Amino acid sequence: MTNNTILVIGSTGKTGKRVEDQLEKRGISVRHGSRSADIPFDWDNPHTWAAALAGADKVYITYYPDLAVPGSVEAVSKLTELAKAAGVSRLVLLSGRNEAEAEKAERVVMASGLEWTIVRCAFFAQNFNEGAWLDEVLAGTVSLPVDQVQEPFVDADDIADVAVAALTEDHHVGLLYELTGPRLLTFRDAVAEIGAAAGRDISFVSAPIEDYTAMLTKYGLPQDFIWLLNHLFTEVLGSKAELADGVQRALGREPKDFADYAREAAATGVWTPSA
Ligand SMILES: NC(=O)c1ccc[n+]([C@@H]2O[C@H](COP(=O)([O-])OP(=O)(O)OC[C@H]3O[C@@H](n4cnc5c(N)ncnc54)[C@H](OP(=O)(O)O)[C@@H]3O)[C@@H](O)[C@H]2O)c1
Repeated sequence: MTNNTILVIGSTGKTGKRVEDQLEKRGISVRHGSRSADIPFDWDNPHTWAAALAGADKVYITYYPDLAVPGSVEAVSKLTELAKAAGVSRLVLLSGRNEAEAEKAERVVMASGLEWTIVRCAFFAQNFNEGAWLDEVLAGTVSLPVDQVQEPFVDADDIADVAVAALTEDHHVGLLYELTGPRLLTFRDAVAEIGAAAGRDISFVSAPIEDYTAMLTKYGLPQDFIWLLNHLFTEVLGSKAELADGVQRALGREPKDFADYAREAAATGVWTPSA
């Protein structure tokens, strides 16, 4: 492990694994920030943080489950202090749009005295094939407490490209990039595009928030997670139905369109139910 090592927190997650792949392909020394890594990193166990940071020069921070949850700002703050003490020079924070807690965590990183870049993102397209909505897509009905809400879904490949640029190039230091895809879609539109790409009839049901919450409770989901989904669908999504230019500013190219995402994901067979 050299002192050019980059710690990727969430190295098995949607953006972290892409960031890690790209860094390793470039021959950069990466430390896996995962609960199952040789040197484990666990947000729920602060005693693991110092060892994971030791010897790292830069850190890609992805908080789990979401910067919107209570306690996230304190955790990012403590991690930032430990990173400074460990001699880390640069922090790249994955953040979310239109979230008050996420913006507080951004400010902690910006005020750290270390080099920083904020990668503030819209809803990830990959939630439909690598995240919480895969099971419903496979089952043929996606039920969500939104109707006319429009979201500029962003592709995790674009997020990773921006994060890697921020970790490896100096001209992104001190910049906040707001990343969206190139198009606003309703969730109904998104599910229709997924169905078309997968060659399947996948329906979208707009459920009242009370019914949605009752359904999640019936399925036994933890109350914290239900709170988070309610918060995301009632307060975060849709209240910023506009495009941003973070991908263009950071990379000098257009972001990936949702139709290209859907085509590529469908080609992997991830949305084809097993017989
Ligand atoms: N998903 C979105 O649409 C979206 C949009 C904007 C912003 N964000 C931000 O992105 C971050 C999460 O991204 P995601 O939703 O795509 O999740 P994700 O990165 O796919 O989450 C899975 C990762 O979280 C790790 N993890 C789970 N519990 C952990 C714990 N206790 N300690 C350390 N690592 C843990 C897992 O690692 P191991 O299991 O290997 O330990 C895995 O690498 C959040 O901070 C959120 O604010 C998400």
